[in-house]
Amino acid sequence: MDSIVVTGNGPLKGQIPIAGAKNACLTLMPATLLSEEPLTLTNAPRLSDIKTMSTLLQSLGAEVTQMQGGKVLALSSHNLNNHVADYDIVRKMRASILVLGPMLARDGHAVVSLPGGCAIGARPVDLHLKALEAMGADLDLREGYVHAKAPGGLRGGTFEFPIVSVGATENALMAATLAKGTTVLKNAAREPEIVDLAQCLRRMGAQIEGEGTSTITIQGVERLGGATHPVVPDRIELGTYMLAPAICGGEVECLGGRIELVEAFCERLDAAGVTVEETENGLKVSRRNARVRAVDVITEPFPGFPTDLQAQMMALMCTAEGTSVLEERIFENRFMHAPELMRMGARIDVQGGTATVTGVEHLKGAPVMATDLRASVSLILAGLAAGGETVVNRVYHLDRGYESVEEKLGNVGAKIERISDQ
Ligand code: UD1
Repeated sequence: MDSIVVTGNGPLKGQIPIAGAKNACLTLMPATLLSEEPLTLTNAPRLSDIKTMSTLLQSLGAEVTQMQGGKVLALSSHNLNNHVADYDIVRKMRASILVLGPMLARDGHAVVSLPGGCAIGARPVDLHLKALEAMGADLDLREGYVHAKAPGGLRGGTFEFPIVSVGATENALMAATLAKGTTVLKNAAREPEIVDLAQCLRRMGAQIEGEGTSTITIQGVERLGGATHPVVPDRIELGTYMLAPAICGGEVECLGGRIELVEAFCERLDAAGVTVEETENGLKVSRRNARVRAVDVITEPFPGFPTDLQAQMMALMCTAEGTSVLEERIFENRFMHAPELMRMGARIDVQGGTATVTGVEHLKGAPVMATDLRASVSLILAGLAAGGETVVNRVYHLDRGYESVEEKLGNVGAKIERISDQ
């Protein structure tokens, strides 16, 4: 298994290009299942999760061709010949459940394994299933699989999500595009990835209104066509790299970054004493004063502070002046990075969903273990600020969500390298 070695090396300077959003791409790809015509995604990120989704779609009979080194994905589902999403692929990635709605909507039947994914809490899929049931799906859970049927096709319905779920909103939105009549999704997720999906579906001929608000209305159509769609920039990769100069000083411009994708996060950076400026090409982040100030963080659905940036923000708070309280309200078990950061000298007290971090002046490099995707990058950020060498093990988590991390950070002056086992 590869590991990444980071050596604290002082301030950073330069530019980091931001890739297309992993989470958007993972929901745009299954949208191919809704149509017999080709779907082309540009600005796709090159990540192992994208490969896993490609393998899953191919196992269903879809064609996935990577072009321009993986930056462009050409998808076609004209020959969908298998409606069973197998456990062996689905267990690798929770987003696999997103094939359920589209397959069911197009062909009236689908069998999908219940997913695995990052170990950050129970993460059920009950809301995905309830939303599809509200559209007339007949669902049966047997031997770890969801057996779904809608013999006469799905029909429009109204569904109010009891809690905001990104994935369940995406599944329901895709399914509703081909349901008969009107579907109204209330308390829908408002994340930029939902807006991106709706825009892509509209390019394919879907009739959707209200994406980006908590009520989305979909008028079902007979069939969807082909489209070409650019994947929205990855706001989590953006926030992560914005934290790099915040944590070790310097000035980094994140190319392709847009403020509206990370507003709540920028507000916290500003409160911590980090400067963010909009430039022609993205967002420039700089920190020149000695230490950042401690700020409190509560994770919430968009437009609130994203749970996917909580671990990275905690790394920053480990070296801040004062005490900060980070409250995790989306996933109950998302502080697995805390004990690893403590190995580097951080002072963190976790009680349930709240972590209290008392900033220290210096972290010290240590061997640490990546426990999930965002945790792994938080350890790299901490390593950039620490004295000495930090070895982050189990980086396969990192490769699921960050392309060329060593290159991107290395290019702005970080001392970082990958050690391969082979
Ligand atoms: C997506 C993102 C993930 C991010 C999360 C929250 C993708 C591929 N992943 O995950 O990176 O951390 O949004 O922003 O886009 N829940 C239920 N039942 C369900 C579904 C969800 O109880 O059927 C709960 C979850 O356990 C969690 C909360 O709802 O507590 C929000 O989860 P959700 O928004 O669904 O996250 P994902 O779509 O899985």
